[in-house]
Amino acid sequence: MERINVIPVPNKISFLGGETTVDPSKLSCEISDLLGNEEYILTVENNKATLVGGSETAVFYGKQTLRQLGNTCPCVKIEDKPAYPYRGFMLDTVRHMFSIEETKKLIDAAASVKMNVMHWHLTDDQGFRIYSEKRPDAAIKGSVRKSSDFGKLKEEGSYGGYFTADQMREIVDYCTERHITVIPEFDVPGHCSAIIHAYPELSCTGAPLEVKTSQGIFDDILCAGKDGTFEIIFDILSDILDIFPSEYIHIGGDEAPKVRWQECMYCQKRMREEGLKNEETLQGWFTNKIIDFLKSKGRKPIVWNESLKSGVIEKTVLVQRWMDPKNNSTQFTKDGGKIINSDFYHYYCDYPYGMTPLAKTYNYNPVLKGMPPENVVGVEAPIWTEYINNFDWLCHMCFPRFTAVAETGWTNTENKDLSDFIRRFEIYTEILNEIGITPAPSTEWKPNPAKRLAKTVKFFSGLIKKKE
Ligand code: ACM
Ligand code: ZN
Repeated sequence: MERINVIPVPNKISFLGGETTVDPSKLSCEISDLLGNEEYILTVENNKATLVGGSETAVFYGKQTLRQLGNTCPCVKIEDKPAYPYRGFMLDTVRHMFSIEETKKLIDAAASVKMNVMHWHLTDDQGFRIYSEKRPDAAIKGSVRKSSDFGKLKEEGSYGGYFTADQMREIVDYCTERHITVIPEFDVPGHCSAIIHAYPELSCTGAPLEVKTSQGIFDDILCAGKDGTFEIIFDILSDILDIFPSEYIHIGGDEAPKVRWQECMYCQKRMREEGLKNEETLQGWFTNKIIDFLKSKGRKPIVWNESLKSGVIEKTVLVQRWMDPKNNSTQFTKDGGKIINSDFYHYYCDYPYGMTPLAKTYNYNPVLKGMPPENVVGVEAPIWTEYINNFDWLCHMCFPRFTAVAETGWTNTENKDLSDFIRRFEIYTEILNEIGITPAPSTEWKPNPAKRLAKTVKFFSGLIKKKE
């Protein structure tokens, strides 16, 4: 059987017979407006490679395919375009930071498999990592926690740091050269302890609050009743928009407990004045206010699926589905809204391979029952870093799962095949190694059922806090 060693496997491969040797430096390239924006045709035969793409981006994708075909390959004509327009990974640099150089390695790996989005999670309870000219204390005060206590992963001493505008621009430029869009996330109104530490007036009570040192969901969130909250958010967002040119900006919206809002006179007054029936609707009102701000600047929002609970989020918002027991995102797509699927049980790469082995990630269909396929714009693999404090472990957790999600994002379901993916991944590992990434060994991601259970139990038992 003829086959090629490319991830993601192209959608149409015609074997022309025999083998050829190609020198990628002798590639002939052309852009044609007869092809789609991400579509390319690559022909390799008679020691020659010819590439036609619908845009510079499509040509870049064709070159990634050629790189993986290697110097000697079967003579082929590849006609290829992606299954989904959004193919991303998310990096949490709050719980633990990764250097610019390490981040670039992840970007190189993502680009090599035609991913086109880096979602950068930059703010959370355990640190605020965006330096804002207009509100410098957000990073100066809000980026430092006194210690780190993430289950078994305990680190004495303060932990902190933030990215300067120049550093963030360096990442944006690096991604742009690789046809990847950086979407920054400023998560509001929940997961905001760090910024509240810098500006206590942002919370309902106004009481001093520490930057959190452990994982969790915390009650103190941004006050939706005080007008001053929006002044600070809009100042920081303005700086974010200066740094990040992306059409979409992620504004979070996940895991926002309502206990403070229920007791806050400002929030309750807002609800009365705006005719909002409960605190979920208040979150919807809060989110819509930020959405209006982004729209006024020509940008669009992404929110996590909890934002749909309010029932008042408009259909132009892009929703990122992660954990959605009531299937609000399915209903949203039925009503014409669009989603990205980052399903917790299949795509969260911070969970052990025992719980989420490669096969589970690879075989997941991001279009759920009842969702119109055209309203699922794509896939994203998140890596949260409470339990990951070094780059080698980050790579262990992300690879091969990131690569599997990249293939789902690009390759039509009927062309996917797990055992062939595994075969190709072993060859592709050489490219990861060249980049400076070591994936987990196959003994990790193909564990037998007994080992799966043992590894999952070990992981979760490490998260339990022992009583002093
Ligand atoms: C999330 O995992 N809280 C989006
Ligand atoms: Zn309040």
